[in-house]
Amino acid sequence: MKIAVLPGDGIGKEIVSETLRVLGRLALKFEFEEAPVGGAGYEASGHPLPPATLALAKKADAILFGSVGDPKYDSLESSKRPEQAILGLRKELGLFANLRPAQVYPELADASTLRPEVIAGLDILIVRELTGDIYFGQPKGIRQHESGGREGFDTMRYTEAEIRRIARVAFDAARKRGKKVCSVDKANVLETSRLWREVVDAEAKGYPDIAISHMYVDNCAMQLVRNPKQFDVIVTGNMFGDILSDEASMLTGSIGMLPSASLDANNKGLYEPIHGSAPDIAGKCIANPLATILSAALMLRHSLGQAAAAERLEAAVKKTLRDGYRTADIYTAGTRKVSTVEMASAVAERL
Ligand code: IPM
Ligand code: MG
Repeated sequence: MKIAVLPGDGIGKEIVSETLRVLGRLALKFEFEEAPVGGAGYEASGHPLPPATLALAKKADAILFGSVGDPKYDSLESSKRPEQAILGLRKELGLFANLRPAQVYPELADASTLRPEVIAGLDILIVRELTGDIYFGQPKGIRQHESGGREGFDTMRYTEAEIRRIARVAFDAARKRGKKVCSVDKANVLETSRLWREVVDAEAKGYPDIAISHMYVDNCAMQLVRNPKQFDVIVTGNMFGDILSDEASMLTGSIGMLPSASLDANNKGLYEPIHGSAPDIAGKCIANPLATILSAALMLRHSLGQAAAAERLEAAVKKTLRDGYRTADIYTAGTRKVSTVEMASAVAERL
């Protein structure tokens, strides 16, 4: 199993190296090959996604990704910004289906800013379309406007085929879970969303066992904090999915807990925590490595055909939390505050 390891910037380096150490405890044969990406790619070769890094990602069986971004690159032109690395990987590899599960571990119910009864037992899956929408739609840019000043513009677009394939991913996922899909859009305002809703409804006809509903994105943002347990699978576009998945992560106590899988049509995938590079805490060894460790579990399950190992890894994380280990982001009184390395070691021992 060839894994492309792309730690990236900020805390990406610490959490990825700790995750590799944990994976090393499994009785499986991995070939890890590391390459620079993001700001690190820019430093190494003048481009956030160096051609050699892209080539490595293409030939690997799966990609383990840390995080990219640093304020020191804020003044670079947009094509050189670290974020272009992850956007380029998603587009070049056709990783259109982004799975972002949000589950509340009973041990962390107190760590959430929401009341425990609102979130206890929560288990939702956000299926975010990842290679279309206003992220990639052309034209975009900044241009002179007739009024004299400049204007910035981006274009929101979705083709029927793009909507259909992400809808299918959501319906298939719902079949293995609570059999409910809520499609989120802004069909009261946007043409793109009107087409989205029509295509999702047409696709739903092929899944009579799944209950389909629709919700406007503003209402969904509100419902996620009012009563998140009403949801099973949420399917939505790239932009709305970006925002709603950050919101959903806080239901679980910390954005440091949420893993993600980004899959192509053949389940080849890139696995990354949903959080960013957190430059403010980088190098301090206090970042929570669990989102990346749990992303590695998704990698074992979805791309490497190692479901049993994935379950063992997830069980080890649960046991670690049950035993009271907490990084600073999920610390509550009466638990044990540990560093990035100590947290990963605790998982490795339980594994
Ligand atoms: C995410 C991130 C990325 C996105 C950024 C880093 C480009 O926020 O994966 O959610 O907007 O998709
Ligand atoms: Mg995001």
